[in-house]
Amino acid sequence: MKVLIVGSGGREHAIAWKLAQSPLVDKLYCAPGNAGIAQIAECVPIGPMEFDRLAAFAKEKAVDLTVVGMDDPLVGGIVDVFEAEGLAVFGPRKNAAILEGSKAFSKDLMKKYGIPTAGYETFTSAEDALAYLRTQAKFPTVLKADGLALGKGVLICEDLLQAEAGIAELMQERRFGAAGDTVVIEEFMTGREVSVLSFVDGKTIRVMTSAQDHKRAKDGDQGLNTGGMGTFSPSPFFTPEIEAWCQAHIFEPTVAAMAAEGRPFQGIIFFGLMLTADGPRVLEYNARFGDPETQVVLPRMENDLMEVFLACVNGTLDQVELKFADNAAVCVVLASDGYPEHYEKGLPITGLESFEGDPSHFVFHAGTKRNEAGELVTNGGRVLGVTALGATLREARSEAYAATERVHFANKYMRHDIGKAIDEA
Ligand code: AMP
Ligand code: GLY
Repeated sequence: MKVLIVGSGGREHAIAWKLAQSPLVDKLYCAPGNAGIAQIAECVPIGPMEFDRLAAFAKEKAVDLTVVGMDDPLVGGIVDVFEAEGLAVFGPRKNAAILEGSKAFSKDLMKKYGIPTAGYETFTSAEDALAYLRTQAKFPTVLKADGLALGKGVLICEDLLQAEAGIAELMQERRFGAAGDTVVIEEFMTGREVSVLSFVDGKTIRVMTSAQDHKRAKDGDQGLNTGGMGTFSPSPFFTPEIEAWCQAHIFEPTVAAMAAEGRPFQGIIFFGLMLTADGPRVLEYNARFGDPETQVVLPRMENDLMEVFLACVNGTLDQVELKFADNAAVCVVLASDGYPEHYEKGLPITGLESFEGDPSHFVFHAGTKRNEAGELVTNGGRVLGVTALGATLREARSEAYAATERVHFANKYMRHDIGKAIDEA
């Protein structure tokens, strides 16, 4: 089969790497891809929001399945465009991708179906939001832009002054454009965060192994929010008892709620959970694989990923059992110093040859490209994800950090405390 992957990050590299191992797959395309993906797939220079060009390409090449990795095209309705052309595609339609595309929608859904989440109010006017903050909010409080904002639309405000500035930023200065015209003000929760990815075929859900992300740029969870600076899997805090509870109270009910709303969800649901003292609560939903969660989850997965994708598209996921190795994985992101703000690009990367043929250490490319001289150079904030497998989380962590020493570029930056929570388990 021929597969087209839409996206260009470390997540898409991990998906391509896993699909390349499937006996069902004989040709991989990726639009637009990156220098690492180009080693296993044919990269095509079409942007992820160019739906008509992507669909025309899929038709021309007789692509059997398109897999959409990124949130923007899903929320924008790429799946509907492909389906209208009779093309098979893995991912939710626009009316289901709204689970990620609108926080107000997802909060209302959870409230209506009794799915545990933080208490909240939704506002479409800055005056109303400010009046609420001045009279009723408890601090800290959480402001969330309704729409997609590159993971930066969540503001945790310690006091009224910060919250007022946050409303100005989101609703009045419109820092994220229309995404901030509606704002959710949410109760602040404390606890451990867990990312749980799942496959869904509209009716059936199959949950993958858990992971934990590290969203802040600096050690000790300091600095700005980023796309994610590293991950580990599994989360030792997400016990089988907690998983069973989430299955009954969060995972299954979410899939049933979407179906009941006439928005059957086919694709990946990513549950961002907070394990609070009062039990697990949903922090957010995403409608796609996590980045860099995918870089620790897929290396531990024993199933043929293509088989699972096809089962989702064909509505036969009930016949699939997922299998994950009884091991652990840690991914450390190598970023450009200065990310997520200002950083230099185009710097040569060396040392990756040592990973070729290595069965337990992998480098997933995020922001890389070949320059005119054909050299591998940095091309983004998050450059590479170095993943190591180990028998235990501790072993995987020390292997991942040792492997980061094998990779060189001038402004290489990483956190040194990815997986620190393991020591508290
Ligand atoms: P989100 O994009 O909704 O996952 O939010 C980004 C990050 O903000 C989360 O990973 C949490 O660390 C934090 N966060 C979001 N909502 C809350 C909340 N209600 N209470 C505490 N922290 C939150
Ligand atoms: N790593 C978090 C996300 O993909 O949204």
